[in-house]
Amino acid sequence: MRRSIFIGNWKMNHTVGSAIRLVTELRTKLSGKLEMDIVIAPPFTLLHPLEIAVLDSPIELGAQNVHWEDRGAFTGEVSSAMLADVSCKYCIVGHSERRTLFNESDQFVNKKILNLLDHGIKPVLCVGETQSERKNGQTTEVLQRQLQLGLRSVNALQSTELVIAYEPVWAIGTQTPASPAMAQEAHVYIREQLGNIFRKDVAQDIRIVYGGSVNPSNIAGFMDQKDIDGALIGGASLESDSFLKIVFSGSE
Ligand code: PGA
Repeated sequence: MRRSIFIGNWKMNHTVGSAIRLVTELRTKLSGKLEMDIVIAPPFTLLHPLEIAVLDSPIELGAQNVHWEDRGAFTGEVSSAMLADVSCKYCIVGHSERRTLFNESDQFVNKKILNLLDHGIKPVLCVGETQSERKNGQTTEVLQRQLQLGLRSVNALQSTELVIAYEPVWAIGTQTPASPAMAQEAHVYIREQLGNIFRKDVAQDIRIVYGGSVNPSNIAGFMDQKDIDGALIGGASLESDSFLKIVFSGSE
């Protein structure tokens, strides 16, 4: 049984004051034993203040990016060791904004994943096709490439630490989500590929979340699908009300 997971990708939003306010609001509405994992991925500058703000709460911290070396002359970069030092449990890798705006290759994504796993941080690997790739019938080819190259040398034992986020690029920040059926079809394909890369039984335990214009009114449709185990949420994770509505209506 896969435990559902909801990850808020704050992107380049919030400052210390507004982030602490948001986490305080989330905390007051999250009590008791929860049946899902809740992760927020703020910008780097907020990780340490939020490490303290989420203490003794069900909220876990994630980062949005990482470098693959532990330390050294890499101006502007942050390592897995540094993320672990501020209690980061997850890290988004290969988001389409990084792939397109910062030329992040599948090879870079792979190095980051291997380094994160070495430091006990769960990678959230983002995969997904662009509009034109879907139109040209290349969706499965793209997903296969991103998974195979991104997960090279990850062993079956480590694989259950992974979260895969299916994020069709055309659905991100557009208010045009994929339909639940379309997302389910992609998730089934992704799980099949994970079965080929690792083992079929192992693939059954890996969580695959959907991302791209998720909001409180469409989450239930996604969560009704057998292979959708949660969501990666951008815009709607920036306010406590919408984020919590997604978390709770998604896990009913
Ligand atoms: P969105 O972003 O929910 O604003 O579409 C999702 C993402 O980029 O992870």
